[in-house]
Amino acid sequence: MATAINHQVNPSQIMQVGMGFWASKTLLTGVNMELFTLLAKGALSAQEIKNRLGLHERSIYDFLDTLVALGFLKRKGLKETALYSNSDDANVFLDKNKPSYLGGILEMSNNRLYPSWHNLEEGLKTGLPQNEMKNGGKPIFEALYADETKLSEFIRAMGGIQMGNFMAFANKFDFSNYKTLCDIGGAGGFLSAQVVMNNAHMNCISYDLPPVTPIANANLKNMGVAGKVVAQSGDFFKEDFPKADVITMGNILHDWGTADKLMLIRKAYNALPAGGSLVVIENIIDDNRSENAFGLLMSLNMLIETSEGYDFSAADFKEWAQEVGFRKVNVMPLTGPTSAVIAIK
Ligand SMILES: C[S@@+](CC[C@H](N)C(=O)[O-])C[C@H]1O[C@@H](n2cnc3c(N)ncnc32)[C@H](O)[C@@H]1O
Repeated sequence: MATAINHQVNPSQIMQVGMGFWASKTLLTGVNMELFTLLAKGALSAQEIKNRLGLHERSIYDFLDTLVALGFLKRKGLKETALYSNSDDANVFLDKNKPSYLGGILEMSNNRLYPSWHNLEEGLKTGLPQNEMKNGGKPIFEALYADETKLSEFIRAMGGIQMGNFMAFANKFDFSNYKTLCDIGGAGGFLSAQVVMNNAHMNCISYDLPPVTPIANANLKNMGVAGKVVAQSGDFFKEDFPKADVITMGNILHDWGTADKLMLIRKAYNALPAGGSLVVIENIIDDNRSENAFGLLMSLNMLIETSEGYDFSAADFKEWAQEVGFRKVNVMPLTGPTSAVIAIK
């Protein structure tokens, strides 16, 4: 006998997530071809877009109208008469010529993460990374940083994914008792830049591996904060952290296994004065591990991208911070799935 269908159930979430890669890849392809940067200069017809991006006739309306239906483009008219322009969000966040551009992470998703995630099943079965490290490749940062294009794409990607959080942190955190901050693994220097732009009395060090320093220096100069933020080269496996009142780490701990996480938290503790703060900005998973889907997906991304890395909850972090000697841990929600967990010495 056939099982009766329970009308309380609904397949739409299954279908939406299962086929989500169609929508994802359509957006990523538009970003990668700089469609939104082109349209930020003014509305264009499909034929003009086709010619400018070197597209084939066949699917031009399907491609553009899908982006309309997904809410990333606006359109007046239909097909031959249509003029396409960016949606308000796309115009702010997907135009490469604006400082608010966050497409770096989307470009990297298109070029590196999308092909690597094809092997998620293999990663789950072997516990091994599925990116450039696959089949005995070099460790992730060595592999990325040996290739100029991948290095700058990665640093831009980091800036894109965290920018909203750095802005929120720089505005919300009480810096009144502090004068200095060191951002460990500071990449392009964006966290430090936001801190000094919003807290004029602060001076910052953006600390990262030597290949990153010239990129950070160029960004800091562009943002007009080179006098207040110093980009310092270093390797946190080989050296102690520079001393500072506040130590920040954005998406650093999730790159590493438990022993390295503890080593980094301990180095932060040693670099801080009594009353100093360690601020960890990540996609902190809810303690019950059932709500922050993005944080959990980020942790799977760490399987794809690193040897031992994983994301964690505030309860996990509290345990590590207390083991190292921190007195107190607070959580400060930032944007979307991201929070700061703050340990006070
Ligand atoms: C996932 S990125 C995070 C960048 C940035 N903090 C953010 O929140 O977007 C990790 C950063 O750690 C840096 N890093 C990796 N290994 C390092 C090491 N041994 N010493 C110093 N920095 C390192 C990388 O160069 C990279 O910029």
